[in-house]
Amino acid sequence: MTGTIRKAVLPVGGLGTRFLPATKAIPKEMLPVVDKPLIQYGVEEARQAGIEEIIFVTSRGKASIEDHFDHHFELMATLEARGKTAELELARGMLAGAGKISYTRQPEALGLGHAVWCARNLVGREPFAVILPDDLVLHPRGCLAQLVEAYEKVGGNLVAVEDVPREQTNRYGILDVVEDDGRLAKAKGLVEKPAPADAPSTLSIIGRYILQPEVFDELDRQDKGAGGEIQLTDAMARTIGSQPFHGLRFEGRRFDCGNKAGFLEANIAYALERDDLRESARDILRRYAATS
Ligand code: UTP
Repeated sequence: MTGTIRKAVLPVGGLGTRFLPATKAIPKEMLPVVDKPLIQYGVEEARQAGIEEIIFVTSRGKASIEDHFDHHFELMATLEARGKTAELELARGMLAGAGKISYTRQPEALGLGHAVWCARNLVGREPFAVILPDDLVLHPRGCLAQLVEAYEKVGGNLVAVEDVPREQTNRYGILDVVEDDGRLAKAKGLVEKPAPADAPSTLSIIGRYILQPEVFDELDRQDKGAGGEIQLTDAMARTIGSQPFHGLRFEGRRFDCGNKAGFLEANIAYALERDDLRESARDILRRYAATS
C-alpha cells in the first residue's frame, strides 16, 4: 500500500540520560548543533519531504520545544525595530502555520514504540513518517525526502538503514535480509539490539521510518522487548508477512547525536559546511591536531 505521506511523528518523550547534566532541565532535542536545536533539523527535514503536519510526542519538561516553534512577539518586534532583517527572516521561517503542529504527551518513558503509539489518534489510519531528532543526516536531499521517493515505488513499511561494524549490532535494530540490490534491502525479519554473534546482518535501522497504520494495532499489545521497553522494532517485525518491509541505504552522513561523541562530531561536520564558520573550524581542528 502506498499513499501520500502527510504526517510525521517526532518522539521527544525520552529522558536523555546520556546527556546529563545538560538534560536535567533542558530537553535533549533542544541541544544545538552549531546554532540550531536538534529538533529544528528534524522539522526542516520533514518539511523538505513534503510533510504537512508535525506531531510531537512530548513529556514533562519539554515545554521549550513548543515555545521554539511558536510566535515570540517581543523578539520579532525587537528584531524589526533594530532592522535585523536576516534574523527576523530566520525567526519567521521556522514558525509552523496555525494547526500544523500538534503535541501529545507520553506520560511515562516506556520506550520508542510506546511514544509512537501515543500519537495513534493524531495520525489516524494513514501511512506516516517517524523522525528521531537525535539522528542527523547531512545531505542536501534530506533523508526523509529520499525515503518518501523510494516509498512511492515499494510502499509498505520502509526504514532508513546503514551498515555498522558487526561489534555494534547490539546498539541498533537490525534487518534480517531476504533480498538486497545494494540500495534497497527487503527484510524477512527484524531484531532489536542483537549480540554481534546472533545478528542476522549488519544493516542497522536509523531514526527515519515510513510506517503503515497497522503498526498501531501491533503496538496496542504493549509488549515489552529489549531493555524492558515497548520497542517499535518488535511491532514493525510483526507486520512482516502481511506488509512488505524494506530498508533504504540513504545518501548522506549520519550522526548519532544521542551519544556524546556523535554529537561532538556533528557539531564539527555542520560547522565545516557553513561558509561563515568553515575557516575557523578548520583552524581549530588544525591547532588541536597539532598539539594532541
Ligand atoms: P533514546 O533511545 O535516545 O532515549 O530515544 P532517550 O531517553 O532520549 O536518551 P537516553 O538513552 O536516556 O540518553 C530515541 C528517541 O526516542 C524518544 C527520545 O526522546 C528520542 O527522540 N523516546 C524514547 C521517547 O519519546 N519516549 C521513550 O520512552 C523513549
